[in-house]
Amino acid sequence: MATETEEIRGIGHSVRRKEDDRFVRGRGNYVDDVQLPGMLHMAILRSPYAHAKLNSIDASAAQAMPGVVAVVTGDLMAQHNLAWMPTLSGDTQAVLVTDKVRFQGQEVAAVIADDPYVAKDALEKIEVDYEPLGVVVTPQAAAADGAPLIRDEKDDQSDNHIYHWESGDKDATDRAFADADRVVTLDTFYPRSHPSPLETCGCVADVDPATGQATIYMTSQAPHAIRTVFALVAGLPEENIRIISPDLGGGFGNKVPVYPGYVVATAASLLLGKPVKWIEDRTENLISTGFARDFHMHGELALKDDGTMLGLRTSLLADEGAFHADAQPSKFKVGLFHIVTGSYDMPAAHVEADGYYTNKAPGGVAYRCSFRVTEASFLIERLVQNAAYELGMDPADIRKKNFIDKDQFPYESVTGFVYDSGDYHGAMDLALEKIDYAGLREEQKRERADGKLWGIGLASFTEVVGAGPHKDYDIIGIKMNDGAELRIHPTGKAILKISSITQGQGHETTFAQIVSEELGIQPEDIKVMHGDTDNTPYGLGTYASRSTPVSGAATAMVARRVGEKARKIAAHLLEVSEEDVEFHRPNYTVKGAPDRAVTIQDVAFAAYTNFPDGMEAGLEGNYYYDPPNLTFPFGTYAVAVEVDPETGEWQVKRMVAVDDCGVRINPMIVEGQIHGGLTEGYGIAAMQQITFDEDGNCIGSNFLDYLLPTAVETPRFELGETVTPSPHHPIGAKGVGESATVGSPAAYVNAVVDALQPLGVKNIDMPLTSATVWEAIQAAQGGS
Ligand code: CDP
Repeated sequence: MATETEEIRGIGHSVRRKEDDRFVRGRGNYVDDVQLPGMLHMAILRSPYAHAKLNSIDASAAQAMPGVVAVVTGDLMAQHNLAWMPTLSGDTQAVLVTDKVRFQGQEVAAVIADDPYVAKDALEKIEVDYEPLGVVVTPQAAAADGAPLIRDEKDDQSDNHIYHWESGDKDATDRAFADADRVVTLDTFYPRSHPSPLETCGCVADVDPATGQATIYMTSQAPHAIRTVFALVAGLPEENIRIISPDLGGGFGNKVPVYPGYVVATAASLLLGKPVKWIEDRTENLISTGFARDFHMHGELALKDDGTMLGLRTSLLADEGAFHADAQPSKFKVGLFHIVTGSYDMPAAHVEADGYYTNKAPGGVAYRCSFRVTEASFLIERLVQNAAYELGMDPADIRKKNFIDKDQFPYESVTGFVYDSGDYHGAMDLALEKIDYAGLREEQKRERADGKLWGIGLASFTEVVGAGPHKDYDIIGIKMNDGAELRIHPTGKAILKISSITQGQGHETTFAQIVSEELGIQPEDIKVMHGDTDNTPYGLGTYASRSTPVSGAATAMVARRVGEKARKIAAHLLEVSEEDVEFHRPNYTVKGAPDRAVTIQDVAFAAYTNFPDGMEAGLEGNYYYDPPNLTFPFGTYAVAVEVDPETGEWQVKRMVAVDDCGVRINPMIVEGQIHGGLTEGYGIAAMQQITFDEDGNCIGSNFLDYLLPTAVETPRFELGETVTPSPHHPIGAKGVGESATVGSPAAYVNAVVDALQPLGVKNIDMPLTSATVWEAIQAAQGGS
């Protein structure tokens, strides 16, 4: 039997992305590419007011327009018990308004027409009588006495407060502060930002009136969970619902929630017996779909004079918008903010948060972030830098002094998280060496002597990804585990079906590489299927960098399960006992007689043609993975900037990013993920914010006001890596997709604040536009 010697391109190979072939040829298949016979089009009427009573809707003129098939209102949805839906946080959200609007851009009515432009035009003919109410656009205003009550339809809601949450040990933290030589405080705001995927949200809902089968093509990062929610909301039998998420043009957390448009289009298709397509435009995406952050943060760090950290206290005000709809594990109201102690061996911490309703769109999604870890990482990394200034220490030294040491892992933090592995000194040393930190500090001295504003910023972040172990992690009760199914065909080619879904991360390549590593089949011979609930195993989807830690682990485990059977078949073919078979990718050989060998392809063929008596035919398996713990990627980012004192403009001179995500499956894809994350982190730090005026009008509803960094503004990145495998992940991998978005904003801000040290500037809230930096310089110089 033939043996193979060609190198198997498994883990560690920069295999080119299989999926790019169809993308670069323009052969991707996105939701808006779906065309079905007799398909109708839906457009949504949105509220111009942020808070207003709905007196009446007159849709007769719209209804009379040629081409208009139906106008759907909240009253019609209410007749079918669909005016409200549950959110992923266990709250309720209006699908279409029945009583009052609660944010600008809220869904009021929908037009279904035979042409998308007719549907849009007809929106203008709908007459709505609104009665404006008082508006609340900050959690502080929401908490004030006499604030307008936003959720007055809820029997248990007499104010705008949603939750109070605490973590850590208050008494121990109070004692640490009492013992401290110094306390450093920081008040900062992590602004409302938006994931802004290239492709906006949309769906094509196709409910067959004869069979009741609902096939919904949807821009969703979590099709299985959405199917379950649909079954619960619409009362449809779950086996009759098929969610297909075809190619997605980015997600970044924006495509996790259930949006009213999906529900209305499905209801319309059900009522009309025809497929209905809804595709939102850019402004609709920016004003009404899942925003991120919007966290007002207060932090206090207790220290000894020598820089030893003693304790951390933080309090937060979370602006949740009009409906509490963020997707956080139900046990963790503010996601994973608990890991705010970061990379430091912190003896005590106490964290508290209060969430409020405001007249803003709901969201709080994990924008390239594991459930609020971005805000947590930003706060501690900003605090640490200010502590260094307060104590007259170098920001690198104070970090090194307090890092959790390599031999302290697994490390249990004071808020109860067990960090799996890390080498924080190693990552920082490499970053400092690569950027020539000592040399840069000398250069900074020289530049400062010349009156220039030069800054160096560091961030040594610890990330937390891979939600999650079933004991602690669920979304609306559904445990956050993932399945994988693997079938090897007689010719030795394979199909892998996974529950996570790619939105550009290259899963079709990297997940095939995991199987290659385990079974010796080349990645190009393994087709990876995802995003279709009828054809993939159950799982909670792709966000919060959970694909590799959970779905990737399920893939390795199913390949191992299939490998066990393959070994038995190999033993049968080689006529030896199973214990005498060795696997040297892709060959099974006889122990001590390496010439006696069969390939995985021989084994696959035999699984259908020549298997041992008593064995079931075929070579396939499935696996549901329940991670024993989260994974904790980490890194150090170092940024050098120069600030123009006349204009406040700042330029990145160097940006070095050292990341450790454990074992890298595909180094090229990992680097691509880091480049993307660093760019998004730069956008957040430098230019992005969705703001609201006092009437609740959304400023930032288009890409002229809400800026995305282009190639012109994006800094040049220099990458480095250390590899500290996760001890509990089957292939030692940790997630990486969000690390750079989590870690980099603090590094950029720390660099600009460092540049302004000679002026005594301690903080500038993001985004650091030229105007805000200029204002900070003026204020520090006593100007107006
Ligand atoms: O959940 P999401 O796919 O967004 O994030 P991820 O698990 O961090 O993976 C992003 C991409 O990087 C995937 O294609 C992974 O397979 C790849 N990756 C890798 O090659 N090695 C790692 N250690 C982590 C991720």
